Amino acid sequence: MENVKGKVVVITGASSGFGKITAEYLSERGAIVVLGARRTEKIDAIAKKINDKGGKALAITTDVTDAKQVKNLVDSAVKAYGKIDVLLNNAGLMPLSPLEYLKIEDWDRCIDVNIKGVLYGIAAALPHMKKQKSGQIISVSSVAGHTISPGGAVYSATKYSVRVISEALRQEVKPYNIRTAVISPGAVATNLPESVTADDIAKGIKQYYAENAISADSFARAALYIISQPEDVDVNEVLFRPTKQQL
Ligand SMILES: NC(=O)c1ccc[n+]([C@@H]2O[C@H](COP(=O)([O-])OP(=O)(O)OC[C@H]3O[C@@H](n4cnc5c(N)ncnc54)[C@H](OP(=O)(O)O)[C@@H]3O)[C@@H](O)[C@H]2O)c1
Repeated sequence: MENVKGKVVVITGASSGFGKITAEYLSERGAIVVLGARRTEKIDAIAKKINDKGGKALAITTDVTDAKQVKNLVDSAVKAYGKIDVLLNNAGLMPLSPLEYLKIEDWDRCIDVNIKGVLYGIAAALPHMKKQKSGQIISVSSVAGHTISPGGAVYSATKYSVRVISEALRQEVKPYNIRTAVISPGAVATNLPESVTADDIAKGIKQYYAENAISADSFARAALYIISQPEDVDVNEVLFRPTKQQL
């Protein structure tokens, strides 16, 4: 019914937050999930829990800033299960701070994970999907990929980039029957606020999330909506936020 049973779904950033909950949610509906993240013990435990429940999951330690590791993640999925139906380019961080704080290391990391990580995912999945003449590449942007506020220059730049890259990809992959989508969430309860390194900013963000963030199932349902469409329907963007969230 949900058109997800038996689909091989590769998820980056699967050790917590959206990646973890989506892996569990999709596997409960029959998807085979392949989990990538740097924290091996976390993804191993998630995969074990899924496999113990009768699902199918594989965990591959992956740092998305290394193109070779992302290729290995996708190639391992194809080797184990014969195909890749969906790549969820989800790994990301949100080190918000005003530019005048000069957090250059944060800028570099944010660009490396949020932009280059997405590109490396595309590089890893495209050759397989072209051969298959099918596949969906879903990348995670943000409400911050649609609007800018002080402190969000670099994070928003990365999330606008995700939308730009995904739309260009959508136009380019028509000959291969490949579909592309972006999910742009607002404030959703995950560990994301932990990636803010400026103490004064982190305090405000954590308080905002405590007061406004909605549950991470909202994201998993959005992913399922995209994945469950028939093959001739290409849902390209889902933007959602807490009802309370103004910006
Ligand atoms: N939660 C929100 O309110 C919200 C709103 C809009 C957009 N988003 C986006 O949603 C995505 C998922 O974030 P989340 O909210 O689920 O936050 P999270 O709970 O902090 O999860 C982030 C995930 O990214 C992974 N990650 C970070 N750096 C990585 C790297 N170099 N290589 C591989 N994986 C890496 C982390 O795994 P390891 O540390 O184990 O590598 C973790 O699994 C991000 O792209 C974020 O920007 C979130």
